[in-house]
Amino acid sequence: MTAPILRRLADLRALHADWIRAGETVGVVPTMGALHAGHLSLVEAACAECDRVVVTIFVNPKQFNNPEDLANYPRTELEDAEKLSGFDVDVIYVPDPDQIYPEGYATTVTVEGLTDVMEGRFRPGHFDGVSTVVAKLFLQTGAHKAYFGQKDYQQLMVVKRMARDLDIPIEVIGCPTVREASGLAMSSRNLRLSQEALDKAARLYAEMQAIAAGLQQGEALADLVERASARLLQAGFSEIEYLELASATDLKPLDRPTEAARLCAAAWMDGIRLIDNIEIPALN
Ligand code: PAJ
Repeated sequence: MTAPILRRLADLRALHADWIRAGETVGVVPTMGALHAGHLSLVEAACAECDRVVVTIFVNPKQFNNPEDLANYPRTELEDAEKLSGFDVDVIYVPDPDQIYPEGYATTVTVEGLTDVMEGRFRPGHFDGVSTVVAKLFLQTGAHKAYFGQKDYQQLMVVKRMARDLDIPIEVIGCPTVREASGLAMSSRNLRLSQEALDKAARLYAEMQAIAAGLQQGEALADLVERASARLLQAGFSEIEYLELASATDLKPLDRPTEAARLCAAAWMDGIRLIDNIEIPALN
């Protein structure tokens, strides 16, 4: 059954009040739409663990540092609702822009430290936009649990920190990255790539796995990254913004996996910026 689409906060709040009165747990899956199997894995996890599930769809202008990226971001509300009809979702919340940023809106949520590296370095203002909208979506939905993808590992860490720092009573749950058969991490931005570019883009994950294997053999990170970057450029990537090892807990740069880590990358293929990350276990 297709869940109702609500566009006004007051309508969401009315429903939420009934759920809380009945003692039900509420889960939220925040998205920007153009839903794919990665998003749907979060919805599935939420439905398995919560009595009520709200999926939010809001293309948040404040987190786009590139106006062209915002203008070209896919908007597929009807198809999204159709995809969600396969799950036990209670409400699709697609707030009108004034429900998030009403006239005179003046507040920004900034998480320090975690946002200095990687995405934060290349996308100024991006995480302020994310933290601000996610704080609002947490408060608007009053959810007990929120589901995020490890695909955006830094975002997951930033959102966890924000909720903890602001005492928002919500548990933030990270779910594994869903990939195409080629290994390419699913992303709404993949919709803008040709089949040929998609095939080439899959090299990113392959090269990240090669680095992971090299690290396990005790090879030097810098050498592995240099060779992988050269091969990616050769394969058709136009730029590697970063390809680096970060602590899985505080995202500090590492040159050896002396603790649990993530290998994180951002690279451009055919005018589209792709990001990915994989787990790197601690070497002992
Ligand atoms: P969006 O890119 O639509 O992603 C919504 C959620 O889906 C995020 O938690 C993201 O990590 C997760 N996701 C995306 N691709 C995935 C994949 N291949 N496997 C598993 N999970 C995946 O991230 C955002 O929107 C926005 O920044 C948002 C949090 C909604 C705030 O505006």
